[in-house]
Amino acid sequence: MDTSEILISREEIDEMVKRVASEINRDYAGEELVVIPILTGAFIFASDLIRELKMPVNIDFMQVSSYVGENSTGVLKIKKDITVDIKGQHVLIVEDIVDTGRTLKLLKELLGKKEPKSLKICTAFDKPDRRLTDLVPDYNGIVVPDKFIVGYGLDYNGHFRNYKDIRIVR
Ligand code: IMP
Ligand code: MG
Repeated sequence: MDTSEILISREEIDEMVKRVASEINRDYAGEELVVIPILTGAFIFASDLIRELKMPVNIDFMQVSSYVGENSTGVLKIKKDITVDIKGQHVLIVEDIVDTGRTLKLLKELLGKKEPKSLKICTAFDKPDRRLTDLVPDYNGIVVPDKFIVGYGLDYNGHFRNYKDIRIVR
């Protein structure tokens, strides 16, 4: 396994976090926000992001995975659910990377049923070449090519989440 090729530096990630946070600060000024990072990958991005946010935030985690079942576009498996009541709340889902978009498409449908005041998606990285759904993130960090990447929370079989930069797996 070779992870020596750096695709995105720590400095570029820092800039991205500040830019995305300023967009969120602009859009939710004076509001309260429920932030839902998706475990496990989003925990590092979310911890950097929320410390740049200026509005009152309430954090609650979810852990989900999606798989393609028979005769369906996808099934969402909830491993850990939120505990806060999001009805009437502004909600921001924070994800590490959007690939096919299946997970977030299903999650958005599910959380939408709980009647939040608004429901948006923020992702650190976006791999649009592999999209199989019409999902478009509302806040998008950095667009990446169709390569398997690790670091900054992203893993390969559970490894490499602790890299400070983003690297390509070969
Ligand atoms: P999808 O958008 O439903 O296909 O799934 C997105 C999930 O797949 C992400 O939350 C990651 O856990 C995982 N994933 C997709 N691409 C990568 C990658 O390049 N590196 C690490 N994990 C990835
Ligand atoms: Mg994930």
